[in-house]
Amino acid sequence: MTENGATQPLLVADHVGRMFHLEGEEVHAVRDISITVNRGRFVAIVGRSGSGKTTLLNLLAGLDTPTSGQVRFEGRDVVEMGEKEMTELRRHRIGIVFQSFGLLPLLSAFENVELPLRIAGVGARTRNERAAEVLDLVGLLPRSRHRPFELSGGEQQRVAIARAVVMRPSVILADEPTGELDSANAQSIFGLFSQMAGAEEMAIVTTTHDQTLLDMAEEVYEIGDGLLLDGDASAPSEPEDSPNAEVDSPPETVRSPVPPDPGDDSIFRRLD
Ligand SMILES: Nc1ncnc2c1ncn2[C@@H]1O[C@H](COP(=O)(O)OP(=O)(O)O)[C@@H](O)[C@H]1O
Ligand SMILES: [Mg+2]
Repeated sequence: MTENGATQPLLVADHVGRMFHLEGEEVHAVRDISITVNRGRFVAIVGRSGSGKTTLLNLLAGLDTPTSGQVRFEGRDVVEMGEKEMTELRRHRIGIVFQSFGLLPLLSAFENVELPLRIAGVGARTRNERAAEVLDLVGLLPRSRHRPFELSGGEQQRVAIARAVVMRPSVILADEPTGELDSANAQSIFGLFSQMAGAEEMAIVTTTHDQTLLDMAEEVYEIGDGLLLDGDASAPSEPEDSPNAEVDSPPETVRSPVPPDPGDDSIFRRLD
């Protein structure tokens, strides 16, 4: 397990902690967590609301800086990389699915997905092909021209996932990416992640509290109060109660399990 070897892990949290000062008090969102993410692995992080999942993902994404410990991407401390290199890394190697989707409201689904390619300077033809390909993958090609407010919460979530994968990053970091989905669609999205992890060598790190999805991950870390919990992390954890969970868009009532769009999205079908 030498860090210098050719088998260097993709992403490592090495005893990371993140403490916030809030109204004169110290809040230890993440206390001391070590996680290793290898290439192409599908890793799930579970824990109740407030346990530190979002904070940990932000640290792994280099969006936030640990107050103790280190986050390393391919062996390099991300703090030492500097903003410019880190921005490049996030543009090309890391795909992020925020809990709040983070879609731009004035852009269509297609334009939202295409944006990372535009920023990276990819030509129009390739942009069109790739954006269409990933929208198809999440079953939303027919909704390409819709703007976020014309889509359901679940559909917005799928657009956000399409946008995160469009650059074929080395790792996807997803914060409760199935929170707005009914169980059939949640399974589809996790199936898609699982397929990408295998076929595309894309590592996936996702937070979830959905027990049915834990079985699909290759590694499960359970966290509580900013620490990794020992024991069988695949054991059922209590579902989060919504009242003080952060919900950034109006909760949506999903009436019935909507099957993924028919189309030729074989990845989804594979799971049925
Ligand atoms: N910017 C912040 N300032 C102060 N406290 C924070 C901040 N971000 C998160 N926390 C606190 O850290 C804890 C973990 O939060 P979070 O990582 O969002 O948990 P989870 O995603 O598991 O619900 C919570 O108690 C939360 O209130
Ligand atoms: Mg969270």
